[in-house]
Amino acid sequence: MDALHPLLQKAYDPDRFGRLARDVVSDMERHLREAQSRQTERSMPWTPPEEERAFWEGRLDRPEGLVELMRLVVDRSNRLQDPRYMGHQVAVPFPDGALVGMVTDMLNNGGAIYEMGPTNSAMEEVLMARIGRMMGLPEGCGGVMCHGGTLANLVALLAARRWKAGPEADPWTEGDDGLGAVLVSDQAHYCVDRAVRIMGWGVEGVGLVATDARHKITAEGLMEALRDMEAKGRRVVSVVGSACTTSSGAYDDLNVLADFAEEHGLWFHVDGAHGAPAVFSQRHAHLVSGLGRAHSVAMDFHKIMGVPALCTGLFYGRHDHSFLPFTQAAEYLWSDAEEPEWWNFGKRTFECTKRMLSTRVAAVLEEYGAEIWGHLVDRLFDLGRELADQVEQRPDFELAMRPEANIVCFRHTPPSLTNESVERVNRHVEDVRKALLEGGPHYIVMTRFNGEVWLRCTLMNPLTEPADLKAMLDRVEWLSCDQGCT
Ligand SMILES: Cc1ncc(COP(=O)(O)O)c(C=O)c1O
Repeated sequence: MDALHPLLQKAYDPDRFGRLARDVVSDMERHLREAQSRQTERSMPWTPPEEERAFWEGRLDRPEGLVELMRLVVDRSNRLQDPRYMGHQVAVPFPDGALVGMVTDMLNNGGAIYEMGPTNSAMEEVLMARIGRMMGLPEGCGGVMCHGGTLANLVALLAARRWKAGPEADPWTEGDDGLGAVLVSDQAHYCVDRAVRIMGWGVEGVGLVATDARHKITAEGLMEALRDMEAKGRRVVSVVGSACTTSSGAYDDLNVLADFAEEHGLWFHVDGAHGAPAVFSQRHAHLVSGLGRAHSVAMDFHKIMGVPALCTGLFYGRHDHSFLPFTQAAEYLWSDAEEPEWWNFGKRTFECTKRMLSTRVAAVLEEYGAEIWGHLVDRLFDLGRELADQVEQRPDFELAMRPEANIVCFRHTPPSLTNESVERVNRHVEDVRKALLEGGPHYIVMTRFNGEVWLRCTLMNPLTEPADLKAMLDRVEWLSCDQGCT
């Protein structure tokens, strides 16, 4: 047998690892200081896709080493740690999460079965039950961690389908007639629709429930959607609440949904990917009143909980319900597919191998306690209200609706556009957003309501200050007047 190749020796050399780690960590400390200082030209170094691709086509042929590559990646990436980044709903991670990532990536104990990762499997089991209780789920709750809210919502709906089929039928094994359906808000995240289609129920399997002016499901809307689905010969298995919606941050009244689910024998799932952490705040927990009545809840630790993506909790009111979604023979992993072994997580998760997710959550609790999640929610939701107040106080600005969370939609239309068509105004808002994207320094996004385009901010960084919001609105106004007057 040949001796170990020098490249492999280099790759596993502890001394070299230590040197690289010190360089990378000190670069990250510098990055953090710089991003927080708002000194860079932009919080998002925007490059059009083809240009960025051409850059990497050239660069990847000329390797300069890991430290240099990391510097380049940092330079060219979005700076979520910059308080002027107000775009998407990803966590501005507590920086020590990056250190946890380093440790868990080295250990790589992520596994489908207990033996692959004993510590993180046991920790996951304990954490899901404890956090579930903090969220108001009943004694005996539990769940699994997985890679993203999209996956968690799909798995919850698989559980719903099996539960609704009852003990006599097993749609997981036998398939079904393709006529199942789910009721969900017309403002829900698209992943619910995607999950329904993956389950083979097609677009008609999504019963969209009309929402009111504040984007919330109503009891009448629910009844109407149920009747409509039944008239189409559909078997509704679940009603899904949004806590909160993606576009505007509106919370469905979860008690209304829970009552409805109970009355009609439906599985009650809450998509709390973004907003369920409100439950940790004394001031905002009322927004998710009724959460504890859900059969299942999806909550992203990688949104308003400061954990790096992806890291989601799929909680079940009853621990044994977490075995509903899958029954899978896998001789090389476990011997009895039917045995409810909590420690072999692959029996309950979509993923086979997964990362050491529980360690990331445990590290937050270890260092700060669950209290930090309440403070984060309060700060971000306060920033949402502050931005809305500032918008309302400025002439020619419109607020789509008062925010309940940290998502705020607004726009500025200069007087010259007052009598223009919806299409013209939409184009104007899009142009303003494009100019901001290209020129910075702030980063915000867009959404549509009833055919109208709105600017959309998600305030994820607790270090954002009212002055940053004012500066962003000044910039929007300046760009808007610039575009509107030409
Ligand atoms: C309400 C809601 N559900 C689900 C998702 C999807 O979650 P993920 O990006 O973790 O897959 C999102 C993402 O923004 C969301 O806002």
